[in-house]
Amino acid sequence: MSHARISTNILERTSAELPAQPAVILRNVAKTFPGGIAAVVALSLTIPKAEFLAILGPSGCGKSTLLRMIAGLETPTAGIIEQPHPRVAFVFQDSHLLPWRSVLRNVALPLELRGEARQRCEDQAKLSIDQVGLTDFTHRYPAELSGGMRMRVSLARALVTNPDLLLLDEPFAALDEITRTELDEQLRQLWIARKMTVVFVTHSIGEAAFLANRAVVLSARPAKIALDTNIELGLQRVNALRGEPAYAEVTQRLLLALEAGASRP
Ligand SMILES: Nc1ncnc2c1ncn2[C@@H]1O[C@H](COP(=O)(O)OP(=O)(O)OP(=O)(O)O)[C@@H](O)[C@H]1O
Ligand SMILES: [Mg+2]
Repeated sequence: MSHARISTNILERTSAELPAQPAVILRNVAKTFPGGIAAVVALSLTIPKAEFLAILGPSGCGKSTLLRMIAGLETPTAGIIEQPHPRVAFVFQDSHLLPWRSVLRNVALPLELRGEARQRCEDQAKLSIDQVGLTDFTHRYPAELSGGMRMRVSLARALVTNPDLLLLDEPFAALDEITRTELDEQLRQLWIARKMTVVFVTHSIGEAAFLANRAVVLSARPAKIALDTNIELGLQRVNALRGEPAYAEVTQRLLLALEAGASRP
Protein backbone atom coordinates (compact mmCIF):
# COMPACT_ATOMS: atom_id res chain seq x y z
CA MET A 1 0.00 0.00 0.00
CA SER A 2 1.57 3.25 -1.05
CA HIS A 3 0.04 5.25 1.80
CA ALA A 4 1.65 2.93 4.37
CA ARG A 5 5.13 4.31 3.72
CA ILE A 6 6.42 7.46 5.30
CA SER A 7 8.60 9.91 3.50
CA THR A 8 11.28 10.93 5.98
CA ASN A 9 13.63 12.98 3.82
CA ILE A 10 11.85 16.27 4.50
CA LEU A 11 11.83 15.45 8.21
CA GLU A 12 15.57 14.80 8.28
CA ARG A 13 16.12 18.32 7.07
CA THR A 14 13.82 19.89 9.66
CA SER A 15 15.30 17.85 12.55
CA ALA A 16 18.71 19.40 11.98
CA GLU A 17 17.14 22.82 12.46
CA LEU A 18 15.62 22.08 15.87
CA PRO A 19 17.24 24.13 18.62
CA ALA A 20 18.65 22.31 21.67
CA GLN A 21 15.97 21.93 24.36
CA PRO A 22 16.29 20.89 27.99
CA ALA A 23 14.40 17.95 29.40
CA VAL A 24 10.92 17.70 30.88
CA ILE A 25 11.33 17.50 34.64
CA LEU A 26 8.66 16.48 37.14
CA ARG A 27 9.48 17.05 40.80
CA ASN A 28 7.24 15.44 43.41
CA VAL A 29 4.18 15.98 41.27
CA ALA A 30 0.78 15.13 42.72
CA LYS A 31 -2.79 15.46 41.49
CA THR A 32 -5.83 15.08 43.69
CA PHE A 33 -9.15 15.78 42.03
CA PRO A 34 -12.01 17.53 43.80
CA GLY A 35 -13.79 14.82 45.72
CA GLY A 36 -10.51 13.43 46.98
CA ILE A 37 -9.40 11.06 44.20
CA ALA A 38 -5.60 11.00 44.30
CA ALA A 39 -4.53 10.19 40.74
CA VAL A 40 -0.80 10.89 41.14
CA VAL A 41 1.29 11.10 44.32
CA ALA A 42 4.83 12.50 44.67
CA LEU A 43 5.99 11.48 41.22
CA SER A 44 9.45 12.53 40.05
CA LEU A 45 10.65 11.90 36.52
CA THR A 46 13.18 13.42 34.13
CA ILE A 47 12.64 13.02 30.41
CA PRO A 48 15.73 13.97 28.39
CA LYS A 49 15.40 15.77 25.09
CA ALA A 50 14.71 13.49 22.11
CA GLU A 51 13.81 10.52 24.29
CA PHE A 52 11.01 8.17 23.25
CA LEU A 53 9.37 7.32 26.56
CA ALA A 54 6.50 4.86 26.92
CA ILE A 55 4.26 5.04 29.98
CA LEU A 56 2.42 1.87 30.97
CA GLY A 57 0.11 1.17 33.85
CA PRO A 58 -3.21 -0.38 34.84
CA SER A 59 -6.44 1.30 33.78
CA GLY A 60 -7.35 4.29 35.93
CA CYS A 61 -3.88 4.57 37.50
CA GLY A 62 -3.33 8.17 36.34
CA LYS A 63 -1.54 7.94 32.98
CA SER A 64 -3.77 10.41 31.13
CA THR A 65 -3.72 12.75 34.10
CA LEU A 66 0.08 12.69 34.05
CA LEU A 67 0.21 13.36 30.31
CA ARG A 68 -2.31 16.17 30.59
CA MET A 69 -0.24 17.78 33.34
CA ILE A 70 2.89 17.60 31.15
CA ALA A 71 0.89 19.24 28.37
CA GLY A 72 -0.29 21.97 30.74
CA LEU A 73 -3.93 20.93 30.28
CA GLU A 74 -4.19 20.01 33.97
CA THR A 75 -2.56 21.73 36.94
CA PRO A 76 -0.73 19.63 39.59
CA THR A 77 -2.02 20.05 43.13
CA ALA A 78 1.58 19.75 44.39
CA GLY A 79 5.06 19.65 42.94
CA ILE A 80 6.63 21.27 39.92
CA ILE A 81 6.71 20.48 36.22
CA GLU A 82 9.43 22.06 34.09
CA GLN A 83 8.43 21.74 30.48
CA PRO A 84 10.34 24.22 28.37
CA HIS A 85 9.49 22.84 24.91
CA PRO A 86 7.91 25.72 22.99
CA ARG A 87 5.94 23.55 20.58
CA VAL A 88 3.84 20.79 22.15
CA ALA A 89 1.40 18.56 20.28
CA PHE A 90 -1.11 16.12 21.77
CA VAL A 91 -2.63 13.10 20.04
CA PHE A 92 -5.68 11.57 21.71
CA GLN A 93 -7.10 8.05 21.44
CA ASP A 94 -9.86 9.34 19.20
CA SER A 95 -8.76 11.15 16.04
CA HIS A 96 -11.04 14.15 16.82
CA LEU A 97 -11.29 15.24 13.17
CA LEU A 98 -13.82 17.80 12.00
CA PRO A 99 -16.13 15.85 9.64
CA TRP A 100 -16.95 18.85 7.44
CA ARG A 101 -13.29 19.56 6.72
CA SER A 102 -11.16 17.66 4.21
CA VAL A 103 -7.94 15.94 5.29
CA LEU A 104 -6.03 18.98 4.07
CA ARG A 105 -8.17 21.42 6.04
CA ASN A 106 -8.11 19.27 9.18
CA VAL A 107 -4.32 19.08 9.11
CA ALA A 108 -3.99 22.79 8.32
CA LEU A 109 -6.25 23.78 11.24
CA PRO A 110 -3.57 24.33 13.93
CA LEU A 111 -1.72 26.68 11.59
CA GLU A 112 -4.94 28.50 10.61
CA LEU A 113 -5.72 29.02 14.30
CA ARG A 114 -2.28 30.54 14.69
CA GLY A 115 -3.19 33.01 11.97
CA GLU A 116 -0.66 31.80 9.41
CA ALA A 117 -1.13 32.74 5.76
CA ARG A 118 -3.48 30.44 3.86
CA GLN A 119 -0.86 29.32 1.32
CA ARG A 120 1.65 28.48 4.03
CA CYS A 121 -1.02 26.52 5.96
CA GLU A 122 -1.73 24.51 2.83
CA ASP A 123 1.91 23.88 1.93
CA GLN A 124 2.84 22.76 5.44
CA ALA A 125 -0.28 20.59 5.71
CA LYS A 126 0.57 18.87 2.43
CA LEU A 127 4.09 18.10 3.66
CA SER A 128 2.71 16.67 6.87
CA ILE A 129 0.11 14.57 5.01
CA ASP A 130 2.89 13.24 2.79
CA GLN A 131 4.93 12.32 5.84
CA VAL A 132 2.20 10.02 7.14
CA GLY A 133 1.72 8.50 3.68
CA LEU A 134 -1.72 9.94 2.91
CA THR A 135 -0.95 12.07 -0.15
CA ASP A 136 -3.62 10.34 -2.25
CA PHE A 137 -6.29 11.22 0.32
CA THR A 138 -5.49 14.91 0.76
CA HIS A 139 -8.89 16.07 -0.49
CA ARG A 140 -11.00 13.31 1.08
CA TYR A 141 -13.24 13.76 4.12
CA PRO A 142 -12.93 11.85 7.44
CA ALA A 143 -16.03 9.73 6.68
CA GLU A 144 -14.23 8.39 3.58
CA LEU A 145 -11.25 7.12 5.59
CA SER A 146 -10.56 3.96 7.61
CA GLY A 147 -9.88 4.20 11.36
CA GLY A 148 -6.14 3.79 10.76
CA MET A 149 -6.16 6.53 8.12
CA ARG A 150 -8.03 8.87 10.47
CA MET A 151 -5.35 8.31 13.11
CA ARG A 152 -2.70 9.10 10.48
CA VAL A 153 -4.52 12.38 9.79
CA SER A 154 -4.55 13.09 13.51
CA LEU A 155 -0.79 12.42 13.62
CA ALA A 156 -0.23 14.67 10.60
CA ARG A 157 -2.22 17.44 12.32
CA ALA A 158 0.04 17.09 15.38
CA LEU A 159 3.19 17.12 13.24
CA VAL A 160 2.20 20.14 11.17
CA THR A 161 3.21 22.48 13.96
CA ASN A 162 6.68 20.87 13.96
CA PRO A 163 6.42 19.97 17.69
CA ASP A 164 9.49 19.35 19.75
CA LEU A 165 7.40 17.52 22.35
CA LEU A 166 4.81 15.04 21.11
CA LEU A 167 2.42 13.56 23.68
CA LEU A 168 0.26 10.60 22.66
CA ASP A 169 -2.47 9.06 24.80
CA GLU A 170 -3.18 5.52 23.56
CA PRO A 171 -3.47 6.78 19.99
CA PHE A 172 -3.69 3.37 18.29
CA ALA A 173 -5.62 1.45 20.95
CA ALA A 174 -8.84 1.20 18.96
CA LEU A 175 -7.16 -0.12 15.79
CA ASP A 176 -6.76 -3.69 14.57
CA GLU A 177 -3.42 -5.37 15.23
CA ILE A 178 -2.02 -5.05 11.68
CA THR A 179 -2.86 -1.35 11.33
CA ARG A 180 -1.53 -0.74 14.79
CA THR A 181 1.85 -2.38 14.14
CA GLU A 182 2.07 -0.50 10.83
CA LEU A 183 1.47 2.82 12.62
CA ASP A 184 3.98 1.86 15.33
CA GLU A 185 6.60 1.42 12.60
CA GLN A 186 5.69 4.77 11.04
CA LEU A 187 5.83 6.60 14.36
CA ARG A 188 9.22 5.10 15.17
CA GLN A 189 10.51 6.27 11.75
CA LEU A 190 9.11 9.76 12.34
CA TRP A 191 10.82 9.94 15.68
CA ILE A 192 14.17 8.81 14.19
CA ALA A 193 13.85 11.47 11.51
CA ARG A 194 12.76 14.29 13.82
CA LYS A 195 14.47 13.52 17.12
CA MET A 196 11.57 15.12 18.97
CA THR A 197 10.78 14.20 22.57
CA VAL A 198 7.93 11.69 22.61
CA VAL A 199 5.83 10.53 25.56
CA PHE A 200 3.55 7.68 24.56
CA VAL A 201 0.89 6.27 26.89
CA THR A 202 -0.18 2.74 26.07
CA HIS A 203 -1.74 -0.36 27.59
CA SER A 204 0.21 -2.55 25.22
CA ILE A 205 3.46 -4.03 26.51
CA GLY A 206 4.41 -5.07 22.98
CA GLU A 207 3.81 -1.59 21.61
CA ALA A 208 5.90 0.00 24.37
CA ALA A 209 8.77 -2.44 23.78
CA PHE A 210 8.70 -1.88 20.03
CA LEU A 211 8.44 1.90 20.11
CA ALA A 212 10.26 3.25 23.08
CA ASN A 213 13.83 3.71 24.24
CA ARG A 214 12.68 3.82 27.82
CA ALA A 215 9.57 2.59 29.60
CA VAL A 216 8.06 3.72 32.87
CA VAL A 217 5.56 1.32 34.41
CA LEU A 218 3.14 2.92 36.86
CA SER A 219 1.47 1.18 39.76
CA ALA A 220 -2.26 1.13 40.41
CA ARG A 221 -3.73 4.50 41.46
CA PRO A 222 -2.28 6.67 42.84
CA ALA A 223 0.37 6.39 40.16
CA LYS A 224 3.88 5.70 41.38
CA ILE A 225 6.81 4.42 39.37
CA ALA A 226 6.99 0.62 39.63
CA LEU A 227 9.71 0.25 36.97
CA ASP A 228 11.85 2.67 34.99
CA THR A 229 13.89 0.81 32.39
CA ASN A 230 15.82 1.46 29.20
CA ILE A 231 14.81 -0.53 26.13
CA GLU A 232 17.91 -1.34 24.14
CA LEU A 233 16.58 -2.93 21.00
CA GLY A 234 18.48 -0.83 18.45
CA LEU A 235 17.58 2.33 16.60
CA GLN A 236 15.93 0.97 13.47
CA ARG A 237 13.10 -1.36 14.39
CA VAL A 238 10.98 -3.38 11.98
CA ASN A 239 8.10 -5.70 12.78
CA ALA A 240 10.33 -8.80 12.61
CA LEU A 241 11.81 -7.57 15.91
CA ARG A 242 8.65 -8.77 17.64
CA GLY A 243 9.80 -12.37 17.09
CA GLU A 244 13.26 -11.84 18.60
CA PRO A 245 14.32 -13.23 22.03
CA ALA A 246 15.59 -9.77 23.11
CA TYR A 247 12.11 -8.32 22.46
CA ALA A 248 10.49 -11.16 24.45
CA GLU A 249 12.88 -10.43 27.32
CA VAL A 250 11.77 -6.76 27.38
CA THR A 251 8.05 -7.58 27.22
CA GLN A 252 8.49 -10.12 30.03
CA ARG A 253 10.22 -7.50 32.20
CA LEU A 254 7.42 -5.00 31.57
CA LEU A 255 4.73 -7.60 32.23
CA LEU A 256 6.24 -8.57 35.59
CA ALA A 257 6.40 -4.91 36.65
CA LEU A 258 2.80 -4.32 35.53
CA GLU A 259 1.59 -7.35 37.47
CA ALA A 260 3.51 -6.33 40.58
CA GLY A 261 2.29 -2.70 40.30
CA ALA A 262 -1.31 -3.73 39.67
CA SER A 263 -1.47 -5.60 42.97
CA ARG A 264 -0.18 -2.60 44.90
CA PRO A 265 -2.60 -1.83 47.78
N1 LIG B 1 -11.51 15.42 35.85
C1 LIG B 1 -11.50 14.47 36.79
N2 LIG B 1 -12.23 14.59 37.92
C2 LIG B 1 -12.21 13.66 38.89
N3 LIG B 1 -11.49 12.51 38.80
C3 LIG B 1 -10.77 12.31 37.69
C4 LIG B 1 -10.74 13.27 36.62
N4 LIG B 1 -9.91 12.78 35.64
C5 LIG B 1 -9.46 11.60 36.08
N5 LIG B 1 -9.97 11.32 37.30
C6 LIG B 1 -9.69 10.12 38.11
O1 LIG B 1 -8.30 9.99 38.23
C7 LIG B 1 -7.91 8.62 38.11
C8 LIG B 1 -6.89 8.49 37.01
O2 LIG B 1 -7.52 8.76 35.76
P1 LIG B 1 -6.72 8.71 34.40
O3 LIG B 1 -7.68 9.05 33.32
O4 LIG B 1 -5.50 9.53 34.52
O5 LIG B 1 -6.31 7.18 34.32
P2 LIG B 1 -5.61 6.37 33.16
O6 LIG B 1 -4.43 5.69 33.76
O7 LIG B 1 -5.37 7.22 31.99
O8 LIG B 1 -6.73 5.27 32.82
P3 LIG B 1 -7.02 4.52 31.42
O9 LIG B 1 -5.89 3.55 31.25
O10 LIG B 1 -8.31 3.80 31.70
O11 LIG B 1 -7.11 5.53 30.36
C9 LIG B 1 -9.19 7.83 37.89
O12 LIG B 1 -9.58 7.27 39.11
C10 LIG B 1 -10.19 8.86 37.43
O13 LIG B 1 -11.48 8.54 37.87
MG1 LIG C 1 -6.16 7.27 30.05
